[in-house]
Amino acid sequence: MASTAGQVIKCKAAVAWEAGKPLVIEEVEVAPPQAMEVRLKILYTSLCHTDVYFWEAKGQNPLFPRIFGHEAGGIVESVGEGVTDLAPGDHVLPVFTGECKDCAHCKSKESNMCTLLRINTDRGVMISDGKSRFSINGKPIYHFVGTSTFSEYTVVHVGCVAKINPEAPLDKVCVLSCGISTGLGATLNVAKPPKGSSVAVFGLGAVGLAAAEGARIAGASRIIGVDMNPNRFSAATEFGVTEFVNPKDHDKPVQEVLAEMTGGGVDRSVECTGNVDAMISAFECVHDGWGVAVLVGVPHKDAVFKTHPMNFLNERTLKGTFFGNYMPRSDLPNVVEKYMNKELELEKFITHEVPFAEINKAFDYMHRGEGLRCVIRMDA
Ligand code: APR
Ligand code: ZN
Repeated sequence: MASTAGQVIKCKAAVAWEAGKPLVIEEVEVAPPQAMEVRLKILYTSLCHTDVYFWEAKGQNPLFPRIFGHEAGGIVESVGEGVTDLAPGDHVLPVFTGECKDCAHCKSKESNMCTLLRINTDRGVMISDGKSRFSINGKPIYHFVGTSTFSEYTVVHVGCVAKINPEAPLDKVCVLSCGISTGLGATLNVAKPPKGSSVAVFGLGAVGLAAAEGARIAGASRIIGVDMNPNRFSAATEFGVTEFVNPKDHDKPVQEVLAEMTGGGVDRSVECTGNVDAMISAFECVHDGWGVAVLVGVPHKDAVFKTHPMNFLNERTLKGTFFGNYMPRSDLPNVVEKYMNKELELEKFITHEVPFAEINKAFDYMHRGEGLRCVIRMDA
């Protein structure tokens, strides 16, 4: 491993040259890691909606050419100056948001919204020097959310790297870099359903099903899945979802349907749709006196959440969460252990696998809404 340290590495990367155009596998140069950075060999990566959203350039500041990708598992190839807690050979998960361990957020222990390394989708360069570590014939290629895992090698800030159990299969735990941890943590860290309670999950995509997995792990006795797309229901039974509600099947608001089903409301709800009406329903469907609702989905920028204040006075609680409240470096290794000790199941989230050369197929699956996660093997 040490032989490439300090040198430029030439390797294959899937480059997005233009918005919405298929990625092209190119030979890129990857510069050595600078201070507080590490260079990773990526072994597995998976596609998440956020990659697709910015590849389609729906974000405000499209940067091209760019290397997308932020859910992945890999091995440290070399470390830059000042890196003390990672060494070549370590098994890691890169994360789109970081934990510097030094800012007010990191020190508070109540927050995972690191000031230094919080997700920034508009930045396409490394924070230390404002430069990219990727180039083709000297021409820079932009990074994405500090991870750019659709490359055989990438450079990441040390604060965005979780060191995990080297026995953990990277082709499975790679999905913990983003969506699955987000849904799981929303339930386990924020909603915290008591054993035997009822939990409604709005939106049964990968994030919502991970929230349902959290409810199953917490020992909820009723897990009610709410989705407008009935195709989502059959797969959801594998995730412990016990009942289904399609808001389209009812002529009254879904919160009233849920209240009738549960004698006044669910104990907890987790919203994983990004739709503001679903957010309002998710709040209003919890039981007065103790109900807690947690918002996870990313809403439209002009969305407004409207509810009567009486819903709060009647002792309902509304919370929001970012990355399931997990601190990437401190907490993700423990989530990996949950998988290792068979508390958490990940196989059921991985519905497709493709070799790196066929990475565009992963985009096709996501466009067609087919499956949950497609894992991309970098060595094939
Ligand atoms: N009521 C119920 N279900 C809804 C509604 C609604 N008003 N609107 C959308 N949904 C359902 C969709 O039918 C879909 O099955 O929500 C589900 C969302 O699943 P995916 O699109 O696969 O999204 P996922 O990857 O799970 O992410 C969910 O979390 O991270 C955020 O930006 C992400 O907002 C998105 C959310
Ligand atoms: Zn910080």
